[in-house]
Amino acid sequence: MTGRAPEMAHIARMARDAIEEWLNDYDGYRGTIVFTDENAERARSSPMVPLAPAETTRQEPSMESFLETDRLLLRRFTPHDVDNLVELDSDPEVMRFINGGRPTPREEIEDDVLPAFLAYYERFASYGFWAAEEKATGEFLGWFHFRPAKGAPPGEIELGYRLRKAAWGKGYATEGSRALIEKGFTDLRVERVVANTMVVNVASRHVMEKAGLKFVRIFYQEWPDKIEGDEEGDVEYALLRSDWERRT
Ligand SMILES: CC(C)(COP(=O)(O)OP(=O)(O)OC[C@H]1O[C@@H](n2cnc3c(N)ncnc32)[C@H](O)[C@@H]1OP(=O)(O)O)[C@@H](O)C(=O)NCCC(=O)NCCS
Repeated sequence: MTGRAPEMAHIARMARDAIEEWLNDYDGYRGTIVFTDENAERARSSPMVPLAPAETTRQEPSMESFLETDRLLLRRFTPHDVDNLVELDSDPEVMRFINGGRPTPREEIEDDVLPAFLAYYERFASYGFWAAEEKATGEFLGWFHFRPAKGAPPGEIELGYRLRKAAWGKGYATEGSRALIEKGFTDLRVERVVANTMVVNVASRHVMEKAGLKFVRIFYQEWPDKIEGDEEGDVEYALLRSDWERRT
């Protein structure tokens, strides 16, 4: 009996690591599921492994609403959001800096994208992908993500967003981003917020700047799709808790 507890703890830790690995495989920024063959199979076939009670952060499914701003409601995605996501990703202008303008097939939304979004809620109460609705109309506008950055230290959270074209230019991306950042630094013990985009994605860079993030670096990495302007690389912006506290 005495050897069992450490053994169980080890198994639980390995299971958590495996889940974390594939949860992070949806790259919201470039909209790509970067599953390897091995973890794609695991993601599709493995049931969620329950976490140790003390570490469980799961909320009840009814707690859908996450955050409100003056004009926006950020809520959990549900299985009923397939059409919303298909429509969002069907606009070549929305997808221009994600994959060059290609719509995401419905099948991929149903089988990969939405399950990846929903899986976040099993692991984290307050991080993941949040559907954005316009409060005045109840219309689906798109999404924000606010989630542990891939391979980053604890306390580092990655901000991202994708909105329908009809919603652009109204300050919505800035409003949602600022609210998530404030929640992160006040409620969630976030230490650093980071965001990436293509150098040539001027709109996204402006949102980062208006939300208070500062330019960190330009970097180059391989992506599956060739996109006009990608030879200029990607840009990283970030905001530290200490800098945010100084500004507020
Ligand atoms: C990036 C995106 C979320 C911006 O959303 P938005 O709600 O229009 O952004 P905001 O209205 O908050 O605009 C923030 C600032 O950027 C500026 N801006 C927005 N779009 C711009 C554009 N195409 N060119 C130049 N500036 C732009 C705005 O004027 C605003 O600055 P201002 O208040 O000083 O005028 C939206 O364009 C989008 O969803 N694009 C497609 C998906 C995408 O590329 N996501 C980012 C991937 S990393």
